[in-house]
Formats: sequence, C-alpha cells, structure tokens
Amino acid sequence: MSQPRAGHAPVRPRAPVIRRAAGSRAVALGVCASEPSHEAGAAAVARRLALPLLTSGTDPRHCTRLDALLCLDGDDLSLRQTGRRAPGPVRVDFGAAAMRHRRAGGHNELLGRAVGVGKKTPLVVLDATAGLGRDACVLADLGCRVTLCEREPVIAELLQAGLTAAARRGDPWLDALLSRMRFYPGDARSPRVHSDPAADVIYLDPMFEPRDKYAAVKKDMALLQRLLENSPVQSDAGQLLDWALQQPVARVVVKRPIRALSLGERTPSHSIAGRAVRYDVHVLRSLN
Ligand SMILES: C[S@@+](CC[C@H](N)C(=O)[O-])C[C@H]1O[C@@H](n2cnc3c(N)ncnc32)[C@H](O)[C@@H]1O
Repeated sequence: MSQPRAGHAPVRPRAPVIRRAAGSRAVALGVCASEPSHEAGAAAVARRLALPLLTSGTDPRHCTRLDALLCLDGDDLSLRQTGRRAPGPVRVDFGAAAMRHRRAGGHNELLGRAVGVGKKTPLVVLDATAGLGRDACVLADLGCRVTLCEREPVIAELLQAGLTAAARRGDPWLDALLSRMRFYPGDARSPRVHSDPAADVIYLDPMFEPRDKYAAVKKDMALLQRLLENSPVQSDAGQLLDWALQQPVARVVVKRPIRALSLGERTPSHSIAGRAVRYDVHVLRSLN
C-alpha cells in the first residue's frame, strides 16, 4: 500500500475552485477540519487539491457558497454535499459492514469468475478505474494482488485516506487485505504503474455514461458522478479499453450496466451477467 503523504504548510483561503465541463453544472468544493486539532491535516488536503480551506467546524448543512466539502475528522475523510437536504457522506471505509458484506454477496462470485480467480495463484489484477476501491476490496478479499489506479484527485484523496485509516485499525482481516493492495494515484496508463508485478488481468469499471437510463445512480453517488463529469480529464473509457487490450495480459474485464452495449462496441469473448451489472470478458490468452 502506498504511504500517507505528509506536509502541513498553512493554506490561505482562496476563491472556490470550480470543476466545470461544457454543458454541465460545475462543482464548487472546499476542505474543512471537524475541529482545530485536525486543521493541519485539512490544510495539507486543501493544498494538494488546490481547494479553499474553510474554518474548522464548518457545518456542511449551513454552507451555501460551495456544493460540497471534504471534511477531515482524525483519520476519517468524507465528501459531504452542502445544504439541509444533502444525502449522506461519501467516504472509503474498508472496515464498514457494507464492505465486509460484499464478501458474501453474489457480486463477489461474479467478479471472481470474470477475472479468473482459481485459475492462477496469486492472480495479479490491475484495477485501472479504482474509484472508491469497493471492487478492489472484493478482489483482494478473493486473494488477488491488486494494483489500484485512480486519477481523479478528489476521489484519489478519499481512497488514500481510506487505505491509511484501514492500516491504522489493527484489524487482521484488513491487514491481510491491505497487504495485497497497492495504490497509485494517477492514470492507469502511466509507465510507473507497470513496474509493479506484471498484471494477469486488467479490470475496468468506467463511470456509467451520464443519463444512461440503465444506470441508476444512488443519491450519495450522484455528487461523485457530477465531479467526474466536470473533471478536466473527460471520459475516455473506449480509449482505455483499446489500451488495455494491447497490454500483455491474459484478459480484460469490463463492468457494464446489464443492458448497455459493450464498451467501445467491442464484442467480448463472453459475459457474466448478474441482476444489474454484467462483466464483459475479453480473453487474450490462457491464464495458466
Ligand atoms: C465507476 S468508478 C469505479 C468504481 C470502483 N470500481 C469501485 O468499486 O469503487 C470509475 C473511476 O475510474 C476512474 N478512472 C477513469 N479512467 C481512469 C484512468 N485512465 N486511470 C485511472 N483512473 C481512471 C475515474 O476517475 C473514476 O473514479
């Protein structure tokens, strides 16, 4: 797992940073600490993301000039939409019941079959679109060695915070999981990612296309979707698949909404379908 980043130089408040894409409403973000003792950590987050630092203890429900706040409370970093009727916070908590629950879910089994768990040990998976690390957690729990890449800076910050917090919990299950995970903030196609043990499988879970009628977005995830739509790096999932298919891996697996077309309209070798999602498997060679 990568190490937490340090550095606590003071950050002066700046004008809100707006992430904007043509035709879609911008997302204005800020950072705040829950209390003054966490302010140095919040300042470091603000500096890394070039976001304004708000007064410690700012209540997101009463903040009107920004759309969302990254709130730091000790080890816990969460993204909270502002306003009174905001949905719950978004955070990466590998120890959460929901994360552990995925172990028993059908999701686990389908994803495991799609990447080829059991065909090679250890199976090395490059999760090129790590997001909040939920699928990577399932893969690591299934025994895979997982390299996680996330290029959206705010999401990468949430993921790094989640990994750091998990490492501090002293939970043997989490420790085993973390020993199989390695995180690279940045684009999965960056050459430094590929000095890692060679991947057997590349896994892609690109953000479902905006307004895709098959991709219902949960309320708390809608903010992340907006963030990604407004990211300076626009959706290039088709190109990411083209790149993945040229890598020396045995298979490329793409998660899709159940009734969506295959990504880039490239026909997979086969698909493994669940109720809401399907995994399109492009087999390039045998895994064993
Ligand atoms: C739908 S989310 C993935 C969710 C993830 N599977 C999970 O379980 O939490 C897609 C993510 O892929 C990231 N992404 C897209 N293209 C990328 C690339 N080339 N390199 C790294 N991250 C990328 C986006 O920033 C976004 O956070």
